[in-house]
Amino acid sequence: MAGAHNRVAVMHGVNLDTLGRRDPAVYGEETLNQFEFRIHEWARELDLEAAFFQTNHEGEFCEYLHRVPETADSVLINAGAWTHYSWAIRDALEVAGKPAVEVHISDVAAREDWRAVSVFDGLVAAKISGKGREGYREGLEVLKRELGL
Ligand code: DQA
Repeated sequence: MAGAHNRVAVMHGVNLDTLGRRDPAVYGEETLNQFEFRIHEWARELDLEAAFFQTNHEGEFCEYLHRVPETADSVLINAGAWTHYSWAIRDALEVAGKPAVEVHISDVAAREDWRAVSVFDGLVAAKISGKGREGYREGLEVLKRELGL
């Protein structure tokens, strides 16, 4: 619906284009395309409008975030390994200036120590991790509340 302020930028970062062949025991068997289709349906059920972006290039990820003020009302972000060290992406998310939720498919707190660190601490409305792909649905619900919808 035009002017509904219900747009969600669903952003996947480095290596998430390899979903389906990357350690399926940790990340699941569905490809990113198949998963995006499911996220799109979950969003629709919540009256949200999802748009998708994935890149393996940090600068492109930042530039997409720079455009968010014009293109989206909120951000669902899985930045992959960038989550743990890219202060540039943290700054770019701050520039985006929209409600954001950080999601991870795996349980980052239960894996290597370096995965427990997130550059998004204090910037996101919620961090959802360890709930598998279903965690994205919860992320969308949080964003819907954040948007006052
Ligand atoms: C991930 C967890 C990160 O530590 C990892 O680098 C990823 C995926 C997840 O969804 O579980 O690429 O963000």
